[in-house]
Amino acid sequence: MTNPFKYGGIVGRDAFCNRTQEMRDLRRAIENCQNLFLYSERRFGKTSLVKQVIGKLPNDKYLAIYADLWATDNEESFITELAGAISLGLESKADRILHTAKRLFGGLAPAVSLDSDGNPQLTFAMGTQAAKAVPLTEVLTVPETLARRRKRQVVVVFDEFQRILEYGDDRVERTIRSVIQHHQRVAYIFLASRKHLIRQMFLDQNRPLYRSGEHYPLGPIAAEHWQSFIRTRFRRSDKDIGSELIKTLCETTEGHPFYTQHLCHVVWERCKPGGRVTPRMLESAISMLLDRESYAYIALWESFGINHRRFLTGLAHEPRGRKVYASDFLRKYGLRSPSGAQRVVRTLMESDVVDRDNGSFLISDRFFRIWIRRTTSQFAYGM
Ligand SMILES: Nc1ncnc2c1ncn2[C@@H]1O[C@H](COP(=O)(O)OP(=O)(O)OP(=O)(O)O)[C@@H](O)[C@H]1O
Ligand SMILES: [Mg+2]
Repeated sequence: MTNPFKYGGIVGRDAFCNRTQEMRDLRRAIENCQNLFLYSERRFGKTSLVKQVIGKLPNDKYLAIYADLWATDNEESFITELAGAISLGLESKADRILHTAKRLFGGLAPAVSLDSDGNPQLTFAMGTQAAKAVPLTEVLTVPETLARRRKRQVVVVFDEFQRILEYGDDRVERTIRSVIQHHQRVAYIFLASRKHLIRQMFLDQNRPLYRSGEHYPLGPIAAEHWQSFIRTRFRRSDKDIGSELIKTLCETTEGHPFYTQHLCHVVWERCKPGGRVTPRMLESAISMLLDRESYAYIALWESFGINHRRFLTGLAHEPRGRKVYASDFLRKYGLRSPSGAQRVVRTLMESDVVDRDNGSFLISDRFFRIWIRRTTSQFAYGM
């Protein structure tokens, strides 16, 4: 029997838990042609969520364009990624894709091939010369033109949008702003995982995309939704897990989708068919996950200075929401001053080790937090 808990890739249909409200909100934003910045920590389910939503849009009324900017590093690669996404959004058969790509972006010299699964892949020979062949403004204008001509509403998703901050200058960011502000039939959804950078991008008045969309922070999945999701999947495969253990499991992962699925996956493997999960199985699953990561965690820990370790020790041991600049926290964990702690926080945020959390901070990797808790004593600062 295959393990019903999936972690790593995009999840849909049967591996997808709740997000009912979020799907509704996204759907409304698309219907209203709004722009949305949807952001969260890594592996929180942004891509899965947005794919789930666009997969349910009726084809006769909507056209969905999904551009993944992960592999892009400059204006040229942005142009070819978007041109490819538009072509693939319009057509599904290889010959039709090529025909459309040639018609819309002939200057980029498109070619189609099939990948190992038989899915059409679109490439552009003009990769490094893309901006000269087809200017960025021209590609960015296509979605609105399509919406008018085809009388369909268009949604454009830019996944991994934080990439554009690494392009060297803000030309792409500025051009996006100046072009899309005139678009009336297109909803733009920007997905991003570097929360602090993305926030700056739309909350800083000096940035081109300042307030050019609603911001939508994606939260964890609540334990009440995990309860039935997890129980059902165990029962369907002739295994059982009690609600108290599911609660403990969700507290361990803090409802983080990836870590919850990962832990469930390991627990499920440990439980025999016809059996019931015991607290010991859960505990050994957690230990196994920590063991697996320990090499990376040790390397990370050793890369930190003493104040970073002290701060992280405090964050790992204290309950969530703790005020980390308060004098009792600083004293307890051997940190000298609020300004010193602020410097520590800044560098930890820059490297995505910690994240903002309702006026406080949290350690992004839930298992790293547990690892720190287990390997440090609350009062030992030497580390
Ligand atoms: N709604 C959900 N229900 C159950 N599991 C989920 C859900 N959303 C995400 N996950 C889990 O989280 C993992 C990561 O999902 P996904 O790739 O969509 O996240 P992401 O935020 O786009 O990640 P990244 O920051 O790496 O782009 C999935 O493989 C799955 O295990
Ligand atoms: Mg993603």
